[in-house]
Amino acid sequence: MIEASKSGGKADIIRYGMVGGGEGAFIGEVHRHAVGLDGKAVLTAGCFSRSMENTLSTGEALNIEKKRLYPSYPEMAKAEADRTDGIDFVSIVTPNNTHFAIARTFLENGINVVCDKPLTTSASEAEQLLKLAAEKGLLFCVTYTYTGYPAVKHAREMVKRGDIGEIRFVNAEYPQEWLAEPIENNPDNKQAVWRTDPKQSGISNCLGDIGSHVENLASYITGLDIDSLCARLDKIVEGRVLDDNATIMVNYTSGATGVYWSSQIAAGHDNDLSIRVYGSKGSLSWRQEDPNYLKVTYLDKPKQILSRGRDEFYPRPTSVIRTPSGHPEGYFEAFATIYTTFIGALVRKKAGETLTENDLDFPTPVEGSQGVKFIEMCVESSEKGAIWIKF
Ligand SMILES: NC(=O)c1ccc[n+]([C@@H]2O[C@H](COP(=O)([O-])OP(=O)(O)OC[C@H]3O[C@@H](n4cnc5c(N)ncnc54)[C@H](O)[C@@H]3O)[C@@H](O)[C@H]2O)c1
Repeated sequence: MIEASKSGGKADIIRYGMVGGGEGAFIGEVHRHAVGLDGKAVLTAGCFSRSMENTLSTGEALNIEKKRLYPSYPEMAKAEADRTDGIDFVSIVTPNNTHFAIARTFLENGINVVCDKPLTTSASEAEQLLKLAAEKGLLFCVTYTYTGYPAVKHAREMVKRGDIGEIRFVNAEYPQEWLAEPIENNPDNKQAVWRTDPKQSGISNCLGDIGSHVENLASYITGLDIDSLCARLDKIVEGRVLDDNATIMVNYTSGATGVYWSSQIAAGHDNDLSIRVYGSKGSLSWRQEDPNYLKVTYLDKPKQILSRGRDEFYPRPTSVIRTPSGHPEGYFEAFATIYTTFIGALVRKKAGETLTENDLDFPTPVEGSQGVKFIEMCVESSEKGAIWIKF
């Protein structure tokens, strides 16, 4: 039998809790499937909703002990911190405006955190979380899903190693059509209601929800830092207070430039995140709706389509491949890779081991803070008439 203790050791069971993700919610269930895929942690506590009734029925369906189902997240954080077999980390899968207070509460109680993006609704809050996690010596992961794909990791390695030369231009986009009509007027459409409401979503809807993935993906693959940006945020559907379409030009500190577009009114697009990176020796192209392939073109060679699992990837991306080529891996596997890397780091940290770069290959509040700052800067630029502003 595996002896579980809070003090550490490789044989420890890793326990986690969840805030949000009750019946009827979207992403909480994806997080649970992702953790379950590799079985490295067990869900043992939850406050799945503001409604205790929902928390109880969700928890019961997930076989969680009743006494570890809590009416509020502060009660959960305190009670779990006081237990010798308390949770090792919490997953926060609630609307954006609640991330800061929930993450802060768990950090203050000495519990590691996984939080969905955008990290917070203001850059100063994100900075506070970054500082608090560091002061407490706790691990913190921000689930920018798309960094978990093997082909994305291979693209990052290729750029790092100079395979496509010096980066000249980045073009990334995330078009969706699901808010092409004012579906938020139907109160049953909870995901649309809170995303279009500034009290719950923050200062941006489209840019915060999916433009943040564009910024993070471009940053993860290219390693480029934004120097200045010029943004235009549109409110296309009548009556909307927040943006539903966003176009941004960026200058990177390296001298390269880029254009990012995110949209929720783009008829015909489901979840069409894609990125093209152009270098002095060639280019890379990846699309999340066809995520097992990476297109590479060198200036003097024919176009190549690298197949995940078939064609040679660098060691880190190879290490996160799960199935042979032709067996599609997707969203759940990418999420699982982020969780498994985070949980692996937690286990090694508990065992007193030094963490390597690969151990820490998951998004942190550093990227989370950068993402929130990006949203703030874009809103500022747009409100001032789409002017260039320094990042
Ligand atoms: N990484 C990704 O790919 C991805 C995808 C979708 C959503 N998200 C992010 O995940 C978060 C949740 O989005 P969603 O679409 O799942 O929302 P949702 O509305 O479907 O679910 C939110 C859940 O949080 C619960 N909740 C709200 N306040 C709570 C509180 N104080 N205590 C306990 N539970 C509470 C709600 O009852 C609900 O169960 C958002 O920040 C969103 O940006 C990320």
